[in-house]
Amino acid sequence: MQPLLTACGTVTSTNDVALDLLKSGAPTGTAVYAHQQTAGRGRHGRQWHSPPGCALYLSLVVRDPRLQRQLTWVPLAVGVAVASMLRSQDGVEVGIKWPNDLVVGGRKVGGILCEGSVGTGGVTGVVCGIGLNANHVLADFPPELQPLATSLAMVTGRTFGVDELAQRTHRAILNELEQLLQGGPAHLLPRLRQLDTTAGRRVEFLTASGDTARGRVLGIADDGGLRVQDEMGGEHKLMAGEVRFVADTGPDSRSPSF
Ligand code: BTN
Repeated sequence: MQPLLTACGTVTSTNDVALDLLKSGAPTGTAVYAHQQTAGRGRHGRQWHSPPGCALYLSLVVRDPRLQRQLTWVPLAVGVAVASMLRSQDGVEVGIKWPNDLVVGGRKVGGILCEGSVGTGGVTGVVCGIGLNANHVLADFPPELQPLATSLAMVTGRTFGVDELAQRTHRAILNELEQLLQGGPAHLLPRLRQLDTTAGRRVEFLTASGDTARGRVLGIADDGGLRVQDEMGGEHKLMAGEVRFVADTGPDSRSPSF
């Protein structure tokens, strides 16, 4: 039997490897992590900077008939799983910037990209990819990311073994997803609300009609969307995308998203 978690050297993207595994019938929990990615992907078509040796790049296959009903919760569950693990096992005060950026002290320490495989009956499976900045020093980030990014080592002063981190991350995500698929989001939602760092913040966001607007985050809605009140008092619920923090007075030049 194929081991559930496999280490690989250099790959284009662990999501590519996991999508191939998904298509070839690999069961839920099958996961790969890599030393380096040559074409690491982020959300919204962005590149995920993936230098060798200092980060965790891990992707995990989920294939389950119950998946379709919980699809929007899957990336949120992955974020909650990893943030909770890092808080309880490593003492790192990781928060979530909705929907699923992992942040410490306002800087990004990890990101999640879930990609699906769609068959005739709907979504047949999903690959959950996570990038965690483990042992970067500031100079390991490209200059444009240096004001925005951090690593577990930078915030704790400790070195993190990537193999061990991969095993713990894999276990935490699998447990959280099993809970979600079995019991729905009831257990997840209060923890997501606790970890979320956007509530009360002034943000710039895209409305459903595609306009850029500014407002204040009211919190996470019952369905996992983000409730935002615009400057005219109108309420919006964002189901996808992201928000950009802006200063309470005037525009903030520091965007926490990358
Ligand atoms: C984001 O915040 O934009 C999401 C970043 C996701 C990066 C991870 S690294 C492992 C997996 N493979 C990829 O190519 N992307 C995800």
